[in-house]
Amino acid sequence: MAQFGIFYGSTTGNTTKAAEAIQAILGADRAELVDVATAGVEDFNRYSNLILGASTWGYGDLQDDWEKKLPLLKEVDLKGKTVALFGLGDQEGYAACYLDAMGIIHDVLVECGVTTVGAWPTEGYTFDDSVACKDGQFVGLALDEDNEADKTPQRIAVWLQQLEGQWQE
Ligand SMILES: Cc1cc2nc3c(=O)[nH]c(=O)nc-3n(C[C@H](O)[C@H](O)[C@H](O)COP(=O)(O)O)c2cc1C
Repeated sequence: MAQFGIFYGSTTGNTTKAAEAIQAILGADRAELVDVATAGVEDFNRYSNLILGASTWGYGDLQDDWEKKLPLLKEVDLKGKTVALFGLGDQEGYAACYLDAMGIIHDVLVECGVTTVGAWPTEGYTFDDSVACKDGQFVGLALDEDNEADKTPQRIAVWLQQLEGQWQE
């Protein structure tokens, strides 16, 4: 059985691409991709490790599919699961709400009693504000395909390396 469910919500394909890159490193034998648009509670329950990825739309809003599916997280049996987040946004065009969707998902997880893993430093990013920034760190991996697509592969690789040893068997 796959240990990792990589749940992604993507409008123009950037988050899908990042999810695929994460899967490629973890290995398709143990990591499955789930488009959150099609996900039900049973899908979230299936994996011992959840990696949740979302882009931000509007002005600090959840990506549309996450908007519909986020309430499901409250019905998922999250006890004993390890949960990590990644987000995509545009730090130049939306500096006041960069990656807010990742922060919104994080807030719901906190309400559910989950402590996420995979916090990521804000150094090297230029933005004014973000719901995804708590205690001076991003709550998960911060990606920006609009301005720094060249940095994405390296950021993903380092993030996953940093997470080794923190996952459920
Ligand atoms: C109309 C529009 C609104 C956006 N709003 C935000 C925003 O509020 N915050 C942010 O960080 N990025 C914002 N973005 C940038 C997207 O999140 C970014 O392009 C992302 O890579 C899209 O990923 P996706 O193709 O997986 O949906 C916006 C982009 C567009 C076109």
